[in-house]
Amino acid sequence: MDFIAITLFFIILLIALSIVWSTLKTGISPMMSSTQARQTMLAEISTDEKGTLIDLGSGWGTLVIAVAKKYPNKQVVGYEVSWFPWLVSIIFKYSMGLNNLRLYRKDFKNADLSGAATLVCYLFPGAMVALEDKLKHDMAKSITIVSNTFALHSYKPVKVIKLKDFYKTPIYVYHWQPN
Ligand SMILES: C[S@@+](CC[C@H](N)C(=O)[O-])C[C@H]1O[C@@H](n2cnc3c(N)ncnc32)[C@H](O)[C@@H]1O
Repeated sequence: MDFIAITLFFIILLIALSIVWSTLKTGISPMMSSTQARQTMLAEISTDEKGTLIDLGSGWGTLVIAVAKKYPNKQVVGYEVSWFPWLVSIIFKYSMGLNNLRLYRKDFKNADLSGAATLVCYLFPGAMVALEDKLKHDMAKSITIVSNTFALHSYKPVKVIKLKDFYKTPIYVYHWQPN
């Protein structure tokens, strides 16, 4: 093996290890929402709502890029902790000239969500508990939440759409109201 092949091997190994590490740390891999899930989630996003749409774990950026492209007048934000998927999403954002999309390498639990009109997510049960806690403490207005697969712990959805896929994946839609 020559020097370039060895270097490439270590770069790929480093990327793979970083994805495994962040998956173990967060509890979910950067797996994308399926096309069907993404289309269903997009259909539940109201364009009339003023305010930002935030993805609480934007992964490779597929969902936020689709929203930012479809609604160029809507501000779209993605938070992502895993650096390689985040870097890839940043490259797509700039190569597509999506000026209405901001992508932060940050844990959503430490982010200011007060400007959001809509939250979208595809997380895991523990993160949904953390999200509900954060909303109870920090969210002072009504918002829409669209969640792929995982439900909020103690909040009732206004709608549950079952996808026509093998797992009958549920998409939960909430109209969150502050107490
Ligand atoms: C299953 S992927 C979903 C990607 C994208 N939202 C989609 O639907 O295609 C979940 C992503 O959430 C990220 N994540 C998990 N916990 C997070 C947290 N607390 N803050 C920010 N990102 C998080 C993971 O690193 C992963 O990339």
